Amino acid sequence: AYNERESLFIAVNFAREFFQQNLKTDEGQSIGLSYFKERGFDLATIEKFDLGYALNSWDQLLLEARKSGFEVDNLLKAGLILERENSPGHYYDRFRGRVIFPVHNLSGKAIAFGARILTQDKKQPKYINSPETAIYHKSDVLYGIYQAKQAIRQEGNCYLVEGYTDVLSMHMAGIENVVASSGTSLTESQIKLIKRFSDQVTVLYDGDEAGIKASLRGIDMLLEGGLNVKAVVFPSGEDPDSFARKSGKREFQDFLKAGQKDFIHFKIDLFAGEAAGDPIKKAEAIRQVVLSIAKIPDPIVRSVYAKESARLLAMEEEILLTELNRQLLKQQ
Ligand code: UTP
Ligand code: MN
Ligand code: MN
Ligand code: MN
Ligand code: MN
Repeated sequence: AYNERESLFIAVNFAREFFQQNLKTDEGQSIGLSYFKERGFDLATIEKFDLGYALNSWDQLLLEARKSGFEVDNLLKAGLILERENSPGHYYDRFRGRVIFPVHNLSGKAIAFGARILTQDKKQPKYINSPETAIYHKSDVLYGIYQAKQAIRQEGNCYLVEGYTDVLSMHMAGIENVVASSGTSLTESQIKLIKRFSDQVTVLYDGDEAGIKASLRGIDMLLEGGLNVKAVVFPSGEDPDSFARKSGKREFQDFLKAGQKDFIHFKIDLFAGEAAGDPIKKAEAIRQVVLSIAKIPDPIVRSVYAKESARLLAMEEEILLTELNRQLLKQQ
């Protein structure tokens, strides 16, 4: 007999295989595969990430899994099916008529799914994700870590993006050291996971208000985790996927190199911007930079950044240090 976790791995793996096979059916080809192709994902990338398709049916997965001997209770606990609200004891597939992005753990086993709608239906969520299960703790997982871990170590840097398709497009552009936080704010255990492979992160969140807010939060958390942090700002309305598609491989790589800023420059540009001469804006930028520097746990690194910021902001180091110490006391 298997224990619960093992039986969940087996069920999720069955579903992963099922969704992948669906891509080869007529419906899967004409809807799922053509969706991926329209977005520019080639077969190698589809294969590398085990992408799939959930048929437009209420219970295709449930029926196939039952035929193969899976218990309803197991499928429920794996997050693959749901109980009908108005008829207890009756079940249906959670993922229907959507393209499937399996989420893998560090050793490459599928543990959960993200499923994207194919139309622009505003009444339904764009993505449906697996719920928390005994083998899937969303806050511990980073999408793409299995496919990225070697490259992260090699490059000494990890790109952090928001979404599934950002990860895929970066791979298509020849950049493999990339993971996604999947639209939620970064957690301590995700940061620990990155730290197993690299001590530097470059944040590549979407070029919209939510993305910038998430970058600010993410940067502080990463600094608190003792990581070296950079960020790239994308043009308004673009994310790494849309931008990579527009610009092409070489231009995208150049954009990342040229556009990356350390967190100090990122914050100065964001809060002072063009109006660097405006004293009110400048004061705000200083406060914002100091807030982040105060998160850095290592006092030596902290003082290096303090010095550098004073220079960049053309202000006396003493004043900046006074503000920094005030922040540090506040945080204790
Ligand atoms: P985005 O809204 O930026 O989507 O959400 P995206 O990744 O650019 O997707 P495309 O390009 O429109 O296909 C970023 C991430 O947030 C999570 C997903 O992980 C998504 O990739 N998300 C978003 C959800 O889980 N549910 C949603 O309804 C929306
Ligand atoms: Mn495979
Ligand atoms: Mn977004
Ligand atoms: Mn996006
Ligand atoms: Mn996108």
